[in-house]
This record gives sequence, structure tokens and C-alpha cells, in this order.
Amino acid sequence: MEQQNQTIKRAGFSSGFGVLAATLGSAVGLGNIWKFPYLTGANGGAGFLLIYLLATLLIGLPVMIAEITLGRKAKANPITALQTLAPKGQPWWLIGVSGMLAAFLILSFYSEVVAWVFAYILKAADGTILSSDPQVTESAFNALVADPVQSLLWQWAVLAFIGGILLMGVTKGIEGLTKRLMPLLFVLLLLLGAVSLSLDKAVEGLAFLFSPDFSKISASVVLTAMGLAFFKLSIGMGTMMTYGSYFGDDQNIPATALRVMAADLCVSLLAGIAIFPAVFTFGFAPTAGPSLVFITIPAVFSQIIMGQALMVVFFVLTAVAATGAMLSLMEVPVLILHERFGLPRPKAIMLTLAGLLLSGSVCALSGSLLADFRLWGLNMFNLFDVVSSNILLPAGGIFLALFVGWRWGFAQFKEAVTNQGRVGSASLARVIFLLLRYVSPVLILIVMLQGLNVF
Ligand code: TRP
Repeated sequence: MEQQNQTIKRAGFSSGFGVLAATLGSAVGLGNIWKFPYLTGANGGAGFLLIYLLATLLIGLPVMIAEITLGRKAKANPITALQTLAPKGQPWWLIGVSGMLAAFLILSFYSEVVAWVFAYILKAADGTILSSDPQVTESAFNALVADPVQSLLWQWAVLAFIGGILLMGVTKGIEGLTKRLMPLLFVLLLLLGAVSLSLDKAVEGLAFLFSPDFSKISASVVLTAMGLAFFKLSIGMGTMMTYGSYFGDDQNIPATALRVMAADLCVSLLAGIAIFPAVFTFGFAPTAGPSLVFITIPAVFSQIIMGQALMVVFFVLTAVAATGAMLSLMEVPVLILHERFGLPRPKAIMLTLAGLLLSGSVCALSGSLLADFRLWGLNMFNLFDVVSSNILLPAGGIFLALFVGWRWGFAQFKEAVTNQGRVGSASLARVIFLLLRYVSPVLILIVMLQGLNVF
């Protein structure tokens, strides 16, 4: 009997701290260290930051709470969850299908950036990228991107590494690892932030990050900020639903979501504080684009005392941050294949990896063999990024908000989000519900249509 209960029991996170570490581990990633600084840099600094903050609070937080709540209520993968919770015959489960597609698109380019990060840990350690001349660091980066063999091999190594952790399971693998990595991440980030603040032009860097210039804000910038909010909080594709299905029934969902959002914001700001003062001190433009991390950062570190060691620290930190995020991205298709389609977990992992080897190599090769293969002017790497962040995630967000606000209804939402009245309050539940019902979907839709130039 005991034995039987054991085998029926669904995997899950085992403690409050584990829930927090895993969920924060999903939110924190390349989004904070790679995307946030270059997007903030390219879109005018603090003005962009402000819009990003608004998007996070008005849209991100309610949608994140909705997703986790749905997942925990159904205790199932996103497709099954929406099939169970929706009235018979209504196609809300398609959100789960779109999520699976988004997971493959995101992982395809994400794993390639992580591939560069892994390669850079070695390059930093052996001194290859140690040069204060950005032309040297730029050609080192271009050489890596343009090398199809290296791009593919590093990407496969990254994917195999993540698959290996997932094989250890939800509790031992995901929760066990993120519990150790998240504290390490904060220590490393504080160290780098302190070094950067001690540099000459720290004040200029901070001013760039914190004093707004609204002249750069346009509809497409607002869409970018909102897309970043979705990407950052891992919402709109069922990741949070999947993790929500591993939450314990006594977990306070709104409080957890708020903590994750706040801690994630801290990581982004700390990354900005670590990067911008250093960039200004050594006279680089803050708007260097996606390559900021791989071209400017090495040139900056090369001019700091102990720069080489700190550069290794920086790329290890980035790898640490990206690991928890990739685990959560890959767990979505893995759980769907396992639970919805009945594959044993190891097979589900292998099949996901096989798919990613295919779709991922399209991104890995978009700097070399497939460089001229473009749609709407974008190579596949950028296309996968734009389509997922600016279309699939916000669209997923709209439908999740509509589902909770108009189908599931307040009574059920309130029961589930307050743990049957044991945490939070009915009025808090109502505020979140009203945001989901009226505010988030409308805002997302307007921003999407404006940003995609539909009007
Ligand atoms: N939030 C992660 C980051 O900032 C990326 C990520 C993980 C993600 N899981 C996700 C993005 C699900 C969108 C959806 O790097």
C-alpha cells in the first residue's frame, strides 16, 4: 500500500525554499544578464526601465499568479491542465501547444547564447579574449559565431548538460540544483557590482540606468519592454503553469510570485550596475546591442585589476543564471510528452533533446552556413527570438488572462489562489482577478498591435 502510494504520487518541489529557488531560477537567466542590459542600453536607459517596470506590475505579475494557480489547481502539464479546467470541447489547451512551440523556439537561440557563454568561460580562463581593444574582442566573437563546428558542439554540450539534470528528476534535479545555484548567483553578482561601482565613471553609468530619457520611447520600444517582461518572468508559455503544478498546496502563490518578481528585478538591476559603470569608465557606447556581453565586457574587464579572474567569474555567473532558466524551458515539453503522451520521463527528455538538436542547429548556424537565410529581414536566431518574445508569449498571456477572467471565474480563482481562504485575502484575489479580466488582456493587445504596426 505504502509502495503504491509512492508510485502514484506526482513529483513536486519539497520545501518553500525549494519552490522559491526553482521559480526564481526559471525567471533569472540570460534575460537579466544578456537581454536586459543591451535592451536598456539600446532603448534609452531609464525610460525603458520604467516602462518595463509598469509592464511587470500590471501585466507580468497577474499573469504569473494566474499561471501558477492554474498549474497547481490542475496538478498537470499545461495541455492537460487546460483540458481539465476548461468546459468540455473548448480549445483552451491550444495555449499549451503554443507554449510547447515557444519552448522550442526560445531554447533554440537561448542554448546557442549559453553555448557562447560556456565557450567564453574557457576563453576568459586561457586569456584568448583578454584585450582592451574592442576590435580584438569583436573579431574573437565573430570567429566563434562564424565557426559552424564550434557553434554546434558547444550547443549540444549545453543541451546534454541540461538534459542530464532533468534526468535526475524534478525534486533532485531541478530543485536540488537551483537551491545551490541561486545563492551563489547573488554572491557573484554583488562582487561584480562592487567592483564596477568602484570605477571612475560609476556615476555616469548609474545615471544612464536611472535618469529617464523619454525621447527614445516609441510603440515598438514599448512592445520590446513588454516582451522582455514576459521573457523575464517566464510567462505566457506554460512554464509557470508547469512549475505551479509542482507547488505544495500550502504555498502562498501571490507572495511567492511577488518575491520572485522582486528578486528577479534586483538581479537585472545588479547586472546593470555591474555592467554600465564599467562600460562608461572605459569609453564604450552603452548601446552595443546583443554583443554587449561578448565584445564590450571582455574589453572592459581586460582593463581592471584582476580582470581576467573577474571575467571568468562573470561568465560562470551567466552560465549559473542560464542553467535554471533552461531547466524550466525544457521541462515544459518534457512534462507534456511524459504526462500527456505517456512517454517514460527519460524517453521524453531524449525526444525533446532530439527536437532541439534540429531546431537549435538552425540558430547555431545562423552566424555561418545559414547567415543569408532570412525571413522579414531577420536571420533565424533573431526571428526565433522576436517571434517568441513579441508574439507567442504575449498572445499566450492574453489567452491565459482571458481564461481565468472569463471562463474559470472569480469563485474558483479565489478558492485556488487563497488556498481556500487560508492565505491572502478575498480583496487581494479580487484585484488580481480584475486585472486579469480587464486590464492585462487589453493592454497586451494594444501594445502588440501598436508595436507590430497594425494601426
Ligand atoms: N526567464 C528566463 C530569462 O530571463 C528565460 C525563460 C525561462 C523563459 N523560462 C521561460 C522565457 C519561459 C519565456 C518563457 O532568461
